[in-house]
Amino acid sequence: MSNEGGRQPDTESVSLGHDPAQHHGSSKPPIYETSIFAFASAAEGKEFFRRVYGPDAPGDEEVGYIYSRLDSPNLAPPEARLAAWEEAEAAAVFTSGMGAITTIFLTFLRPGDLVLYSQPTYGGTSTLLNGMLKEFGVISRPFRADATGDDLVSMIGDDRLAMIYLETPSNPTNDLFDIEMAASVASSHDARVVVDNTFLSPVWQKPIIHGADLVLHSATKYLGGHSDLTGGAVCGGKDDIAALKKTRYEIGTTPSPSTAWLLTRSLETLKLRVMRQTENATRVAAFLDEHPKVDLVRHLSLLEEGTRAHDIYKRQCGGPGAMITFDIVGGEEESFRFLDAMEVVKLATSLGGTESVASHPWTMSPPTVPEEEKRSIGVTPGTIRLSIGIEDPTDLIADLDRALSAV
Ligand SMILES: Cc1ncc(COP(=O)(O)O)c(C=O)c1O
Repeated sequence: MSNEGGRQPDTESVSLGHDPAQHHGSSKPPIYETSIFAFASAAEGKEFFRRVYGPDAPGDEEVGYIYSRLDSPNLAPPEARLAAWEEAEAAAVFTSGMGAITTIFLTFLRPGDLVLYSQPTYGGTSTLLNGMLKEFGVISRPFRADATGDDLVSMIGDDRLAMIYLETPSNPTNDLFDIEMAASVASSHDARVVVDNTFLSPVWQKPIIHGADLVLHSATKYLGGHSDLTGGAVCGGKDDIAALKKTRYEIGTTPSPSTAWLLTRSLETLKLRVMRQTENATRVAAFLDEHPKVDLVRHLSLLEEGTRAHDIYKRQCGGPGAMITFDIVGGEEESFRFLDAMEVVKLATSLGGTESVASHPWTMSPPTVPEEEKRSIGVTPGTIRLSIGIEDPTDLIADLDRALSAV
């Protein structure tokens, strides 16, 4: 499925998974806004159900469409294109990033299993691990970016390691975690390495080539890219993706045809958007780094040579991405004055859209993450997270400069 003709993913992004000849010559995929598909005969209906639910399912057989919670024609193009981007055998799309994460956990974790997860990690993910999954008997232990392979091994103890879950770079601090190191620990325990690649997108990081088994995205962010859809995606080996699709139709984390269609449209411009956003962010980070009212700018373009993070960056990432976290000199009051003074940059949560947005992780993240945990990962009342968009960079810098003068 991925890169069949040896073509580059940005070439595949405009055509893979859609054959105009099968759709009245429609150059773009039509939206199949239907929940049911009519069978040509009762025998065909029986056969389609056998292929989806039969003892050998899920398999390689072409399956006819039955019902849009199970599968729909609009899922094929984004799944083919994402697999090409991530250099994976296959991909599956979901209702949201959390839908993708939940489907992974429910498919591959059982009571008594141990998950080692990178910290910080998106609050929704850590809340799920330490809340509902804990109640279901799954054990989770966090580790920080300075942990070594030996540290991970000693955290396993006598427990049954099932998964090492990495969010790299991490939300919101841009910490980097070493995928190859995690893969070498996981391989001696028959465990999976799962990487949340939301922050860099496959334009800058392809975790599978570094040893990850599964790569996931909140497609709401860069993959969707226009802040007009909520979606998720997972890429990986054929068998794992088939197992995820089976869970997807059991628990109903399947995206609607319209959402999958919007994602297909967005993937055509993924590289263009991410390149421009990264260029802009690198300029903005350099500006902030020099500003007297700003402390501790965290953008991957500013990593210091000779540090462990820089070494991981050089091996694992093709570019620094467009997420910047920095501290305003002061606390919540100064941060709010800054946020309220911005005109071009929108005050909103989420990230990865064409428009620049700023948020305040101290107050605008799930309340289930305790204050001590936020401080320990480097989030304070003065911390601001910026997702840089595709606007003219001089307008962005002028807006930030004006807002900083209001602090
Ligand atoms: C890194 C990361 N992973 C996963 C998620 C969850 O994605 P969604 O909001 O699409 O469920 C988010 C959301 O902000 C995120 O930032």
